[in-house]
Amino acid sequence: MHIAVLRETAGDESRVAATPETVRKLTALGATLAVERGAGQAAGIADGDYEQAGATVAERGEVLAGAGIVLAIQAPEAEGLRGVGEGAWVVAAFDPFRRHETVAGYAAAGLEALAMDLMPRITRAQSMDILSSQSNLAGYKAVLEAANAYGRALPMMMTAAGTIPAARVFVMGVGVAGLQAIATARRLGAQVSATDVRSATKEQIQSLGAKPIFVEGVAGIEGEGTGGYAGETSEEYRKAQGQLVAGHIARQDIVITTALIPGRPAPRLVTDAQVATMRPGSVIVDLAVEAGGNVEGAVAGEVVTRHGVTIIGHRNMPGRLGADASALFARNLHNFLAAFWDKDAGRPVLDAEIGDAIRLTRGGQVVNPRLAS
Ligand code: NAI
Repeated sequence: MHIAVLRETAGDESRVAATPETVRKLTALGATLAVERGAGQAAGIADGDYEQAGATVAERGEVLAGAGIVLAIQAPEAEGLRGVGEGAWVVAAFDPFRRHETVAGYAAAGLEALAMDLMPRITRAQSMDILSSQSNLAGYKAVLEAANAYGRALPMMMTAAGTIPAARVFVMGVGVAGLQAIATARRLGAQVSATDVRSATKEQIQSLGAKPIFVEGVAGIEGEGTGGYAGETSEEYRKAQGQLVAGHIARQDIVITTALIPGRPAPRLVTDAQVATMRPGSVIVDLAVEAGGNVEGAVAGEVVTRHGVTIIGHRNMPGRLGADASALFARNLHNFLAAFWDKDAGRPVLDAEIGDAIRLTRGGQVVNPRLAS
């Protein structure tokens, strides 16, 4: 089995889908690895490091020639993959609910697109879960970006020149990114509160030493969706949540929003009028900005100021920690391939539970039921 590792082409992408560690492990399974020249540069990995680990380093065309598996962070367009073996697998993040054309291109090219971002949230797939590994880093980095843009300190400081109060940080959406944001803000000494639609998060918030802010006693909450994910909330719930948040947000110094609903636009949690109630100099980080944004006025890829409040809309937050994000992403890919590696076949063979969940295209067709509509 020949495995190709691509250099990412997106401008803000610093990550790479294999590291010398995973090259060694995949080679030990019996695969040959070829890495595109310069692939690891932005993550601090030199071409020579890959060669030492047993990979060949070459230009894209050579790397792709005859590959049975292509590894990438962000799936490239299928046209850029000429020369791969027939029916080759492309294992990457596909963002399939938004990139319909890309998925159709994979079907047309006869490739098998395997979307790691559709990995089911089941115990045995935890070590393959790129959303978790990357969201965790995004939550951490979001707090650091906010702290950096904030013109005050986060911890309470009692000095001879007087006391500085602790900053108030509010985290909206307490999944993987939100939990790490709470933990990071707490470590920096902030006073932290958090909210989510899933009531299961209340205890998690408290266990991290933060204060839960929850809508109580409103019927029609559909917060506990499938697979641990949130669903869309009822109109009544949204209204109650809006009122609750409006009162709370005006007293916050930093707001980190992370709320996502798989396959749907991100829910709008903060209106422009609510931003206007915050003290000038406050900071908001919208981690859902690429999915449409939780915050009115947030712009993907930009830092904007509204009513004196800085709204950070960085794309690709995990890419701002390229080395660690690559190390974890690459391990997720290795764990996935290794879990299914069939020694006799000399390649991975997927089972139905995971294969059917992540496979987007096969045999010239789009085959994933979640893309059927
Ligand atoms: P996500 O990235 O899809 O969403 C982030 C958070 O936003 C979620 O907690 C969601 O409930 C919340 N949210 C959605 N709409 C909201 C709204 N209107 N207002 C406030 N909050 C809202 O979620 P993520 O981080 O992917 O985690 C989802 C769940 O999956 C969690 O329960 C997590 O613990 C679980 N999980 C399970 C894994 C496993 O068993 N293999 C692995 C990773 C996560």
